Amino acid sequence: MGADKGAGLIELENVAYSYGGGELLSDISLQLQPGSFHFLTGPSGAGKTTLLKLCYGALLPTAGDVRLFGTDVRGMERDDIALSRRRIGVVHQDCQFLDHLSVSENIALPLMVSGRDLLAEAANLKELTNWVGLTSRAEARPPELSGGERQRAALARAVIMSPDVVLADEPTGNVDWEMSQRLLRLLVELNRMGKTIMIATHDLALIRAAKAHVQARVLRISNRHLQLAGADL
Ligand SMILES: Nc1ncnc2c1ncn2[C@@H]1O[C@H](COP(=O)(O)OP(=O)(O)OP(=O)(O)O)[C@@H](O)[C@H]1O
Ligand SMILES: [Mg+2]
Repeated sequence: MGADKGAGLIELENVAYSYGGGELLSDISLQLQPGSFHFLTGPSGAGKTTLLKLCYGALLPTAGDVRLFGTDVRGMERDDIALSRRRIGVVHQDCQFLDHLSVSENIALPLMVSGRDLLAEAANLKELTNWVGLTSRAEARPPELSGGERQRAALARAVIMSPDVVLADEPTGNVDWEMSQRLLRLLVELNRMGKTIMIATHDLALIRAAKAHVQARVLRISNRHLQLAGADL
């Protein structure tokens, strides 16, 4: 096994997940190939966030296999999972910040946690803050940010470690259409830089808008299963 499995950065094979009741997700197989762009959609409660958590090793499957960068999560020590997770940037659905730190410090937090030399990363941090359009807000505290500014700070924090994969959970929740387009453009730009992207969203208009800019596969969770959505969006 193993070697002939293709080169998916994140691979799920016949995965099922249950929080303890009945199965929420059944027989899910998925490969995120390098450079690919995926949307994950489905009704509220279908299991989008849960599936993303399986994709970054925050949850272990109750059946089937999850491989992160070629290694089965079940064989991984906690440290191995932590290392793999550094290669995966996550924009969480409820982006949380440390409110006593500045926006800039919050974006830099993954660098601090992993013991990087902040001085050496200063230019990177500045560039990234500028890229998400938050230079003028860099010294503000998170509670002073608008919804769109929070989402952009969360995106910057997710990519500060230069991950190979970015998983974004409803990155355009609670922002207006114009801001959701702006966030989408940032994610498309990351993809053009070679990053593998998966966005969970219930916003079909966003998915339609994306199709003009990027070749994306649209996956839908329906009745516990993952389907490739057709052109009928
Ligand atoms: N930690 C947990 N323990 C038990 N049940 C959970 C837990 N987390 C989520 N669930 C349940 O699992 C189901 C799927 O939740 P999930 O958050 O994955 O859905 P979602 O598709 O992301 O929904 P939304 O679009 O509202 O974000 C829901 O019914 C939810 O209540
Ligand atoms: Mg969710």
